[in-house]
Amino acid sequence: MALARATVSSRALTKSLSLLSRLPKLSSAPPHSARALGIIRAFSALVSPPSKAVVYEQQGPPDAVTRVVEVPPVLVKENDVCVRMLAAPINPSDINSIEGVYPVRPQVPAVGGREGVGEVHLVGSAVKDLSPGDWVIPSPLSFGTWQTYIVKDQSVWQKIDKNSPIEYAATISINPPTALRMLEDFTSLEPGDSIVQNGATSMVGRCLIQIAKSRGIHSINIIRDRAGSDEAKAVLKKLGAEEVFTESQLEIKNVKSLLGDLKEPALGLNCVGGNAASLVMKFLRRGGTMVTYGGMSKKPITVSTSSFIFKDLSLRGFWLHNWMSSNDVTECRRMIDHLLELVHDGKLKYETELVPFSDFHIALDKSLGKLGSHPKQVLKF
Ligand SMILES: NC(=O)c1ccc[n+]([C@@H]2O[C@H](COP(=O)([O-])OP(=O)(O)OC[C@H]3O[C@@H](n4cnc5c(N)ncnc54)[C@H](OP(=O)(O)O)[C@@H]3O)[C@@H](O)[C@H]2O)c1
Repeated sequence: MALARATVSSRALTKSLSLLSRLPKLSSAPPHSARALGIIRAFSALVSPPSKAVVYEQQGPPDAVTRVVEVPPVLVKENDVCVRMLAAPINPSDINSIEGVYPVRPQVPAVGGREGVGEVHLVGSAVKDLSPGDWVIPSPLSFGTWQTYIVKDQSVWQKIDKNSPIEYAATISINPPTALRMLEDFTSLEPGDSIVQNGATSMVGRCLIQIAKSRGIHSINIIRDRAGSDEAKAVLKKLGAEEVFTESQLEIKNVKSLLGDLKEPALGLNCVGGNAASLVMKFLRRGGTMVTYGGMSKKPITVSTSSFIFKDLSLRGFWLHNWMSSNDVTECRRMIDHLLELVHDGKLKYETELVPFSDFHIALDKSLGKLGSHPKQVLKF
């Protein structure tokens, strides 16, 4: 992480910066001669530009413990890549990391964020596969994306298609892969089958609807009762949702009477917990599986005894971190390329709100739910 890296002495730094300032702009097209490129690499291996970062020195309520600070330039070693960040989202797991309740989290002091997209600014002398101007994402995920410049080893970075819309490139490596994996890894689904999910307005939920639809799988969706729920229903239907219910609409004895011609779902996805999880289980067919991947309501899951005895339900969990740890990095990167292709082909859409980095604390308040429901907040650096 940039903060933890050694900084150069101020005299050496002043000298390095004045030398760097005389070079052509490093993120523009590199010069043609190999010698010139060598010179740039030699100089650029010195230091990154100073960075601005969202830092927290202790875990706690994110709106209380985070602040935006200037971070001095850091050394760019021979295998390092210095990336100018373009955009990075605020995800629930980022909030949980700052709160100290996420199982993997960086040591404090830390910079927030775990995914995002950036442009290579300069590379260390041993870096061959990345060049200034390339677009990259940290893959597998890497902490500290809420800052204007990041210096990390070349192995951290996956080069992606520069034509990707910035808000999708910044958000492609956590939520879309989670949706894809949960559809593929738990039950075998055929065209004509159905799934049921709560938290359907979430980014994961929206991805689930569309990936399922593209495979001929119908989705039954549950959203919470809130202002704007009718509009939210219409948006999800436009994305391909077969049915969308608010939780209160499902306060009836036999929810399956609402299925019409749809098959009873074999797979349920639980983003919320509490009552919303019970509703997912009510829809499931005998022998069905509910996969829990989020706990947005912060309420526990209660399972009726009859769900086990008479319906033989299975309860499972999914954590992308585990999947990534047990799969080859090439496999992770292939999946991300595939998802970016879906975006490119217009087959994967979700709403985001690009927010200037200077408005970080407003974006954070929106992400914390303090200002009602908002699209995913994506910081634009
Ligand atoms: N296990 C994994 O590997 C994994 C990977 C990715 C994400 N996740 C988890 O998946 C969940 C969704 O993430 P995301 O980034 O897709 O979400 P998101 O786009 O940021 O959306 C947040 C969602 O949570 C709902 N919500 C917020 N507060 C709620 C509350 N108190 N009760 C019920 N629902 C509430 C929102 O509903 P409204 O639209 O009504 O506001 C919205 O659907 C999070 O829990 C996240 O940690 C887990």
